[in-house]
Amino acid sequence: MLRALPRFVWLSALTSAVACGSSGSPAPAAPAPDGGDAATESADPPDVVRFPKGFLWGSATAAFQIEKGDAHTDWAHWVQMVGTIKNGDSPDNGGPDALAHVDDDVRALADSGQNAYRFSLEWGRIYPTRAAFDADTPDAAALAAYDGLISKLHDAHITPLVTLHHFAFPDWLSDVSAPAQPQGWERPEASDLFTEFCRRMAARYKDKVDWWVTINEPLVMALQGYLQGGSPPGVALDTTRTFAVSKDEARAHAKAYDAIHAADTADADGDGKAAMVSVAAHLRTFHAADAANPDDAAAAEHVRYVWNTWFLQAIVRGDWDDDIDGKLDGPDDRRGDPALAARADYLGINYYSDTLVSAHDGFVIPVVNAAVTFDHMPTSRPKTDVAWDIYPEGFRTVIEEMKPFGLPVIVTENGIADAADRNRARFLAEHAYQMGLAIKGGADVRGYFTWSLMDNFEWASGFCPKFGLYAVDPVTGARTARGSVATYRSIARSGRLSPADIAPLPAYAPGSLCP
Ligand code: FCB
Repeated sequence: MLRALPRFVWLSALTSAVACGSSGSPAPAAPAPDGGDAATESADPPDVVRFPKGFLWGSATAAFQIEKGDAHTDWAHWVQMVGTIKNGDSPDNGGPDALAHVDDDVRALADSGQNAYRFSLEWGRIYPTRAAFDADTPDAAALAAYDGLISKLHDAHITPLVTLHHFAFPDWLSDVSAPAQPQGWERPEASDLFTEFCRRMAARYKDKVDWWVTINEPLVMALQGYLQGGSPPGVALDTTRTFAVSKDEARAHAKAYDAIHAADTADADGDGKAAMVSVAAHLRTFHAADAANPDDAAAAEHVRYVWNTWFLQAIVRGDWDDDIDGKLDGPDDRRGDPALAARADYLGINYYSDTLVSAHDGFVIPVVNAAVTFDHMPTSRPKTDVAWDIYPEGFRTVIEEMKPFGLPVIVTENGIADAADRNRARFLAEHAYQMGLAIKGGADVRGYFTWSLMDNFEWASGFCPKFGLYAVDPVTGARTARGSVATYRSIARSGRLSPADIAPLPAYAPGSLCP
């Protein structure tokens, strides 16, 4: 097994007031988002962007990253293996312990002006054993905790967006001690069991939840588990298993989509929506490592297709590119497969940064036929604490890239590792502005969730990267708002943004605390 690397250096390792500033002082109370006031809009200077009425402004988390005691997951076993996690960190030791801080977190969401929250239900916590799953005897304490969170969000008028699979499997479906055996999505029973889990959760929460994500970042999960080796089951450099798992996830999503819709037909809040179901796809921009080299340019376009398009075209159009060559002419390729098509009601997209692609230099990944660099890129752009390029323009690019699918977009993640909180206010405002430009150009974006509500366990990188709007005291678990919360609150409340609002925010400063 490849020695596990901090998650944020993985693929490159294979190749070798807004009126608020960042002072932390609350921004002046502004009206709730209006967005749709034509008279006001027509009076806007041309560089102002506005966000639609009812826009969801939230933040995102995932169960294993914020909870304690998720003992019956593959990740719980994985973190105990020597060398898997930076500094030997574990969510059980210094993590946010979110299920013990539900009131604090709901208050933090409300205080920071958010009207939405994305979080995940931990399958292995709710059903700690296969026997409990088969008998449908869920863990009472786990369900009570999630019931409480969802009820309190409901009472606080905060819209939940619920993820049903965010990287962790129940340990009875994924054994990290046997990576050579089929694990997780590879197990023949996995997709049916996941579908049943989704059906049960949708049936339980249909009155309070409209927005669902089946699988978080399907391709990232497959790449980390089977190519980079830094996540369960810890297999390195196996492209065959990587893409087989990606295909398993597409099929599992389609079945789970049907099960959620069958179970959740409730429009309990009278907004005209029952279930809205999607995945959260990690989208990136891709540039040729050598802009003058046509091979690099072709490789960048192919990687873009594999990463941004291949999975989504399967679940939206049923276009199944089995050999992943960018054409639908292979013996097992097909268009409009009814078992896959029309299985997304919106597109959940996660965007963080740019990618450099080379056709020849570095580790050329088979199938993808390219070497890719995700971090520590040799560009002049400012970098985050995990050495990702800060590239807000790419955010607009990926949103616009989704237009041909003809579906609404929810930004399910976007954020910055910035322990010092020097760059977050500008990062948030510049990304929101690019999103606003995309909306102005006709993109149907309905919501934005920043990663993350609070500092959390960042997988192989442990607690080092600080993505939170709120810092977490590792001993008491107390949440403290970072200064940039004021910027986020102001954008969310005013529902408009202009370059003049962004100009006074502090300029980017170098950050590289978690190289
Ligand atoms: C995304 C993951 C999320 C978090 C952020 C930083 O890829 O979905 O869990 O780790 O990266």
